[in-house]
Amino acid sequence: MKIDVFTLFPEWFQWFASQRHVQNVLATGSSLECVNPREHTPLSGGQVDDTPFGGGAGMVLRVDVLDSALRAHYGVDPVALRERRRVIALAPGGRLLDEPLVEELAREPALTLLCGRYEGFDERIIEHFASDVVSIGRYVLSGGELATMVLCDAVLRKLPGALGDERSATEESFSAALEGNPEYPHYTRPAEYRGWQVPEVLLSGHHEQIARWRRERSRERGARAPGHDGD
Ligand code: 6GU
Repeated sequence: MKIDVFTLFPEWFQWFASQRHVQNVLATGSSLECVNPREHTPLSGGQVDDTPFGGGAGMVLRVDVLDSALRAHYGVDPVALRERRRVIALAPGGRLLDEPLVEELAREPALTLLCGRYEGFDERIIEHFASDVVSIGRYVLSGGELATMVLCDAVLRKLPGALGDERSATEESFSAALEGNPEYPHYTRPAEYRGWQVPEVLLSGHHEQIARWRRERSRERGARAPGHDGD
């Protein structure tokens, strides 16, 4: 998986890329590269944003600046780029990132992630350069960087080599193996602490009973989870 992040704050990603699980994936041939549009701006003084037409607060990322940055990095017209790779703009009003979308993105060979800042993107960036608009929740962050890291974290841990135990990624919350339900509860030693007992079945060594117990707890949690049915 080749991930390119277009961000005015590439240094934020140094911390993210240095985390163990990210390093493990990068060691298997994946990449996480940052491109700073400020370094490709055709405008003087490193200008990348501007005040919104029609008035209002904040600044908007300029379409000509992102055109230059994408063109410089990929050597093609950005309008043609989204035909051959997912170009995802991160914005609060986009498609909500959930486990099915994470799994879909994890199957892509390459992703381009566009981080908006301040009031976000000139709409023409979304209309003409992006293949998708993705949001991590219905609240407003001051930029797309944290949302991009959330997306990268969720996607990268699906890839081979990310986790110590490959099973952890298949039988986890919201996975098909758990019928889209949240994960069952986990316990570890001590088996009793302050009178709080670990469920007996988990100590029994009966694999079928344990599997049934976990499936039941997982379904129970799915039935209780907000947004599970109806809302
Ligand atoms: Cl993707 N961007 C921003 N700025 N705020 C958000 C978001 C994205 N997702 C939720 N809030």
